[in-house]
Amino acid sequence: TLGPDVVDVSSLAGKGLFTYDPGFMSTASCESEITYIDGAKGQLLHRGYPIEQLAEHSDYLETCYLLMNGELPNAEQKKQYLNGIMNHTMVHESLVNFFKGFRYDAHPMAMMCGVVGALASFYHDSLDITDPEHRRISADRLIAKMPTLAAMCYKHSKGQPFMYPDNSLSYSENFLHMMFGTPCEPSKIDPVVAKAMDIIFLLHADHEQNASTSTVRLAGSSGANPFACISSGIATLWGPAHGGANEAVLSMLQEIGDESRIDEYIKKAKDKNDPFRLMGFGHRVYKNFDPRSRVMQGICDDVLGAMGAENDPLLRIAKKLEKIALEDEYFVEKKLYPNVDFYSGIIMKAIGIPTDMFTVIFATGRTAGWIAHWNEMISNPYRIGRPRQLYTGYSQRDYKPLEDR
Ligand code: ACO
Repeated sequence: TLGPDVVDVSSLAGKGLFTYDPGFMSTASCESEITYIDGAKGQLLHRGYPIEQLAEHSDYLETCYLLMNGELPNAEQKKQYLNGIMNHTMVHESLVNFFKGFRYDAHPMAMMCGVVGALASFYHDSLDITDPEHRRISADRLIAKMPTLAAMCYKHSKGQPFMYPDNSLSYSENFLHMMFGTPCEPSKIDPVVAKAMDIIFLLHADHEQNASTSTVRLAGSSGANPFACISSGIATLWGPAHGGANEAVLSMLQEIGDESRIDEYIKKAKDKNDPFRLMGFGHRVYKNFDPRSRVMQGICDDVLGAMGAENDPLLRIAKKLEKIALEDEYFVEKKLYPNVDFYSGIIMKAIGIPTDMFTVIFATGRTAGWIAHWNEMISNPYRIGRPRQLYTGYSQRDYKPLEDR
């Protein structure tokens, strides 16, 4: 698999030589068959299938199956997989007590780091990572329980009763039911919103070795259990330069506050002496339009129309900002296109999902990729990940007694 532009430095191991590559800009940490990205062409393939085709013809759970198993399921396999996932949507009742211990205003990502890691405490019976059946059931449990836990975070913050999953609904309908439903009346789910939610999960399902997926692999390389590994991925995703960007987009739109101030913020983003960056623009890998952004752009219009939200002041600022940035010389020259977080933030705002839940939704979708990468690594020969460093501190010196410092 090594191409002409790849230098294999693995033979330098143990010979005192190593490469220095801060931010891993040009270092492949593993081989993988799951996802291919060509950032220059704006191409994203899962197991060879273009993301645009999956978004149009597939659905989130079918894409989860594809990522985990390498092939699209046939009708019987799909039925069995969906049944299997929907059988695992409930969480142990003791987790309710876990949630009760959190402050009502805790950030939902803080709660998710805790409760997802805590799942391991309920499944001692299936934590043998060398057993493929244990790995499969852990993957199913994680994919199934993430929407339930995500909705529980929201309900806890509102002081509303937790909603049990309704397994007669689809994955995304069930999530909306647990988020916005109440025990007082049957949930009313708009099919446009359910479809948009499913596509949001699907478009976030995997993105090869980003910071959170690399973290999951690194945690997994020590032999840690999958729930602990996914919890470490959630922690990494929380940062504003990664999954927290869609939340940061909305905070930025609120800070801009009025269309008349957009130019001022564009100017700030271009000022080298100002650390401000236009949130939702730019990507480490895509130096062309992110193909997921194009799909998101389309469903954004559908959802705004269905929710009658076209005139929401923040959404109007977002649309104007997008137009200006797409035409501005600085952003065009640096290839800073709106990324997937820009549109997902707008869509989720229109659906009524609170800003601090945005990254939780990203984490829910990305669980498929995290667990597929973890499983791929564990299924093949691997070594514990142990990056090296360039030491820049003091050379050896003698301890100074307290009175001499
Ligand atoms: N606004 C203004 N200028 C920007 C922005 C931005 N959003 N993003 C990059 N730039 C500029 C940088 O200042 C730099 O300019 P210079 O060459 O004059 O020094 C140049 O573009 C390249 O930027 P880098 O930081 O080197 O690009 P990198 O690939 O390391 O960073 C990143 C990518 C982190 C996504 C960056 O574009 C950014 O901070 N964007 C805003 C946050 C965001 O939207 N994150 C979501 C990422 S997508 C995801 O996680 C799914």
